[in-house]
Amino acid sequence: MVNSQHKGTGPRTALVAKTLATVTAEEIDGSLAILRREGLVVADTHVSYFGLLEPDKRAVLAGVSGDRCFRAFIIDMTTGLSHDVVVSPSDDRVVSQHQLDPVTEGGVPVVLREFSYVEEVVHADERWLAAMARRGLTDISTLRVNPLSAGVLAEGEHGRRIQRCFTFVQNTPEDLGWAHPVDGVTVMVDVVTGEVLDVIDYVDLPVPLEDGNFHLAEWRGPDREGLKPIEITQPEGPSFTIDENRVLSWAGWQLQLGFDQREGLVFHNISINDDGTQRPVVYRASIAEMMVPYGDPSPQRWFQNFFDCGEYLLGGFANSLELGCDCVGDITYLDAVVANNDGSARTIPQAICIHEEDAGILWKHTDNWNGSSDSRRNRRLVVSFFVTVGNYDYGFYWYFGLDGTLEFEVKATGVVFTSAYPAAGYPFASELAPGLGAPYHQHLFSARLDMMVDGVDNYVDELEAAVVPRGESNPTGSGFTQLATRLTTESNAQRIADNLKNRVWFIGNPNSQNRLGNDVGWVLYPEGKPLLIADSESDIHKRATFATKHLWVTAYEPSELYPAGDFVNLHPGGAGLPAWTAANRPVDGTDIVLWHTFGLTHFPRVEDWPVMPVDTTGFVLKPHGFFGRNPALDIPETIGDHCGPDGAHDHTTHAHGGHEHHGH
Ligand code: CO
Repeated sequence: MVNSQHKGTGPRTALVAKTLATVTAEEIDGSLAILRREGLVVADTHVSYFGLLEPDKRAVLAGVSGDRCFRAFIIDMTTGLSHDVVVSPSDDRVVSQHQLDPVTEGGVPVVLREFSYVEEVVHADERWLAAMARRGLTDISTLRVNPLSAGVLAEGEHGRRIQRCFTFVQNTPEDLGWAHPVDGVTVMVDVVTGEVLDVIDYVDLPVPLEDGNFHLAEWRGPDREGLKPIEITQPEGPSFTIDENRVLSWAGWQLQLGFDQREGLVFHNISINDDGTQRPVVYRASIAEMMVPYGDPSPQRWFQNFFDCGEYLLGGFANSLELGCDCVGDITYLDAVVANNDGSARTIPQAICIHEEDAGILWKHTDNWNGSSDSRRNRRLVVSFFVTVGNYDYGFYWYFGLDGTLEFEVKATGVVFTSAYPAAGYPFASELAPGLGAPYHQHLFSARLDMMVDGVDNYVDELEAAVVPRGESNPTGSGFTQLATRLTTESNAQRIADNLKNRVWFIGNPNSQNRLGNDVGWVLYPEGKPLLIADSESDIHKRATFATKHLWVTAYEPSELYPAGDFVNLHPGGAGLPAWTAANRPVDGTDIVLWHTFGLTHFPRVEDWPVMPVDTTGFVLKPHGFFGRNPALDIPETIGDHCGPDGAHDHTTHAHGGHEHHGH
């Protein structure tokens, strides 16, 4: 295990932690004061996004004390003029400002004003009223207007800020409106001018009548009986510590927690202990984009593709976990701080959940020759948050394991997007309840993994299983081997998973070797599920090109943060990864960033209605020749009194464990 040539984390001092610390309310307020003073934020300005503008990694790691600068996206909702602004509270100045060209550069993310405004505007529109009246819907107070990001703009729409709107019937204030979609009518609203640009009344389908009020006990019916309490206790408290810069230490892992309005949880300087040395693994990790493309090409919903990071800033929709009992055990909650649309700071109490959980068996062997029988119990550190973005709810769970496994998992739940389902059947949706449809769709995520395996200079080898041709070295034909192919440039480092070949990606360091003389590394294990299914000429393919490969590797460049570009909302496409990688920079043995696409392809089930049981997707990173042996040999035999040392090898004692109520 002793491997003295491995460099530790170097200048990962308190200064580094302070430079990368999460945004505070004081910093938001201080920045707003400067923006007001400089006339950038006035009465009708909405602050769409506010976040830390991280310094160049090279400066941070060199220990150069930098300003903490912040980036704000702002829009004047009377003119639509939008700016990308950088402000430095410590220097008390605006560092830069750029006015967006809405035709070529897209728009800033959706602001809350747009949600409430469209219902007002649509409720007053004669064409929409007529379309509703034709369907017998005359009680306007029951009609909810659901604004949706516009996707690619059509002829005559360019340069405008548009929401496309659907209508749902909410029969009572308690009713679940998603159960009653008014399908076939789409309203285009310019949210700056307040004009209704068009009302598409494409098809008249009956509004599904059956309620979906799962939140009401009388609607759900009686509770299932026979379930007794499960309680998790940690009588001595949790095993992690967290400091004032939110540097979290647990069982050899160290990582700094940040929270961003766009990406949610952001981790910096993830390192792991090896015989007293903290060895770096990842410089920065986040989910940099997620998008939900719908597969129904009909005139009323062809545009339906939601970018929950780039268009909606999902971090701002983090749930306050004090409102729902979501976690079990000894929980530590942290608040998240984001900016309101008026530019003021908003604290989301208890947005981030940190806890340990039991994770089954870590390792185990009973040896028939020497008679030994050993087993160790695994546990993992869980850092998570939950967001609600419209109909869907997503949990983002980062798991850190005792054996070095780093896993990310999304838990997708909430209510599926609904449509009316024609009696004749429909090839682009499932039927969930009588006359109620759910269009087929995908949930595609992009993890941005700025790797730093024992240092910033890394490379990626694609590893895969291969049959060896019959011949002198393989006379029986049973031979198979593992092939390694170096991904040398940005163009040949755009890869698609292949589970039939056990294809994985090894992130190695050419300057650091293990005790066997091989480069140390970490391996990314993809789930290998479908990528974007829409065809290669489609608008969504242009806007979400990142989702057409499971892996991209790029040369580190501090401004390259979002795989579909900085301004995804109303963007015509081509930004982000496809634009950057056109330079085809070398990625072999230099400072690199991995971008990993993963996700769910969702053909909704009847059982997904009215609220969807959690479905999961994610990825795993594991050390691969990074350590000199199993790094979890040092885990003590038993922790806690459930299997006391005396009972560990005694089946009778073990099973009954002195629990008085066993056998009830
Ligand atoms: Co879904």
